[in-house]
Amino acid sequence: MKPEKITEGVYSLRLNHFNRRLFDALVPLPDGTSYNAYLVRGSEKTALIDSGDPEKAEVLFDYLKDEKKIDYVVSLHAEQDHSGSIPQVLARHPEALVVTNPKCKDLLLTHLHLPAEKIIEIKDGETLSLGGKTLEFLYLPWVHWPETMGAYLREDKILFSCDFFGSHLATNELFSEERRVYEPMKRYFAEIMMPFRTNIKSHLERLSKYELSFIAPSHGPVHSNTKFVQDIHRDWAVGEPQNKVLVAYVSMHGSTLQLVNRLVSRLQEHGACVEKLNLEQIDEGRVAMALVDAATIVIGTPTVLAGPHPKAVYAAHLANLLRPKARFVSVIGSFGWGGRAAETIAGLIPNIKAELLKPVIVKGLPTGADLKQIDELAALIAEKHKTLPVCG
Ligand code: FEO
Repeated sequence: MKPEKITEGVYSLRLNHFNRRLFDALVPLPDGTSYNAYLVRGSEKTALIDSGDPEKAEVLFDYLKDEKKIDYVVSLHAEQDHSGSIPQVLARHPEALVVTNPKCKDLLLTHLHLPAEKIIEIKDGETLSLGGKTLEFLYLPWVHWPETMGAYLREDKILFSCDFFGSHLATNELFSEERRVYEPMKRYFAEIMMPFRTNIKSHLERLSKYELSFIAPSHGPVHSNTKFVQDIHRDWAVGEPQNKVLVAYVSMHGSTLQLVNRLVSRLQEHGACVEKLNLEQIDEGRVAMALVDAATIVIGTPTVLAGPHPKAVYAAHLANLLRPKARFVSVIGSFGWGGRAAETIAGLIPNIKAELLKPVIVKGLPTGADLKQIDELAALIAEKHKTLPVCG
């Protein structure tokens, strides 16, 4: 493999994994993923930025086969998909020193048992000169873990952004194309960044003071349209939720589905966008993406052993973890002889600071009166949404 040139002396060493279908044993990857390392050659020193996941170490070392000397391995993030091959890099390049922040150092010692004497600690804002190439380190906590950071290459105006602005997208294209990268990037934001929206907001404010020609994240292609990428992240992180309803449901014998279909139909008549997701074959990424901009979340569930269906419980738990900006939630569903499905779901989402709209839980197959309650719920949601932006 040949490193791909971004600018003079700066190279992408992308480790594509086209066939990977699950990340962290949790996150579906419909477009595969990539683990990105970068090489920066100054007139005096050479730095490798991250090392990628060890399962692709042979590709990394193929890229590096002609590299005689690596002076620094910059570790932006201790998670193993970024740092996992550092022990092998150090074994092949005993001259190299690892450059990272104190929190990341601690995690590298914990997860990889790196020798502490090989690690140089840097502070936020500190620089490292490679000779005509200056890396400025920017702490960006919680662009996944607490130790995550970026590095800004001043002369080339390149931000190595770690997980920030990443996308789970395996591709041989060096640079991103807006229409192609939008959905994988939104999926990535939803799954990784959404719980830390406040941090994302302040990082975006900090980065707005930097001139960025390229953003080189640790997953997916390099972005040359840096304004587009920052603007959509700002919108996802701090923009108002849209006139959009996520209806995530499961139905065993069709009664809950009747309620769901009625609600979806009425909401659409009121002009709302509706994302109707059947949790029977849950794709956590689809649920997460819908949560980025939905103003209302409705969980549809039948009653199983006196409580909500386990798949509805999982969806509610996931939504609670991701802390979306939804303003309203509700529960609809059916029961045979009793239960507390709505109360249980409501108790599972304390992190979502949203108003609970009166649930509609009906006995058995919905009657005309039951469907009227659904119509009222749809009208209430439409009323609540009337000042919100249209969904895009
Ligand atoms: Fe790309 Fe937080 O791992």
